[in-house]
Amino acid sequence: MPVTTHQLIQWKQQRRLIVALTAYDYAIAQLIDQAGVDLILVGDSMAMPILGYETTLPLTLDEIMHHAKAVRRGVKQALIVVDLPFLTYQESVQQAMHSAGRVLKETGAQAVKLEGGYPVMATTVSQLTSAGIPVMGHVGLTPQSVHQIGYKKQGKTVEAGERILQESIALQQAGAFAIVLEHIPADLADHITQKLTIPTIGIGAGPHCDGQVLVTSDLLGLSEKQPPFAKAYANLRETITQAVKDYSLEVREGKFPNS
Ligand code: KIV
Repeated sequence: MPVTTHQLIQWKQQRRLIVALTAYDYAIAQLIDQAGVDLILVGDSMAMPILGYETTLPLTLDEIMHHAKAVRRGVKQALIVVDLPFLTYQESVQQAMHSAGRVLKETGAQAVKLEGGYPVMATTVSQLTSAGIPVMGHVGLTPQSVHQIGYKKQGKTVEAGERILQESIALQQAGAFAIVLEHIPADLADHITQKLTIPTIGIGAGPHCDGQVLVTSDLLGLSEKQPPFAKAYANLRETITQAVKDYSLEVREGKFPNS
């Protein structure tokens, strides 16, 4: 049975941890879906490892939707969530509705994710969910605000932690089905996770969230640079470089192809 947003909430109640990864193309989406990942995020993080941008800011809705359609074709089980890129939802509720509607109608993904919380985003999330569009929130380090907050850990003071908690509660009240907690202290993520009835999906937020997400390029060791909290489970940069060197050598020495 394909994973649904309701299933994720049930898993939180059952304390069954949720596994999430990003995917940006058909091949990787198919592999990670068949490997049993629960949630696949077509994240705007694709701006850097896939499109070579400096930040997530230049990414357009058309660009991410092009990749989301490829991911959709590769996935049978996992829930697919697509990020709304910078300035495709912050201007007005109408803009958010238009962008999120396009994502659901044209890509076949089941949900969207947007960054930020109280008070503005909670209103937007409330309107989107009222229209039947499932929304995942994202608080803590929100990379679309990099020019304001950098890539630093967030929520380190009591006041800042309280604000992230209040944003999370507001997003839940607005109807979000899950919230990404990025790069915040583990004890704060633990506290938020206990306060919410919807699942928290952590990245750089310690072990107490209801699930974890990683950028797949980081997990595979493909990224040029990766955040300190990411873990590489393979070193594909090395594997690919070696394979290309071996091929080049064999071509230049006339060993490939053989007769
Ligand atoms: O864009 C992305 O990949 C994300 C994850 C880091 C959660 O938002």
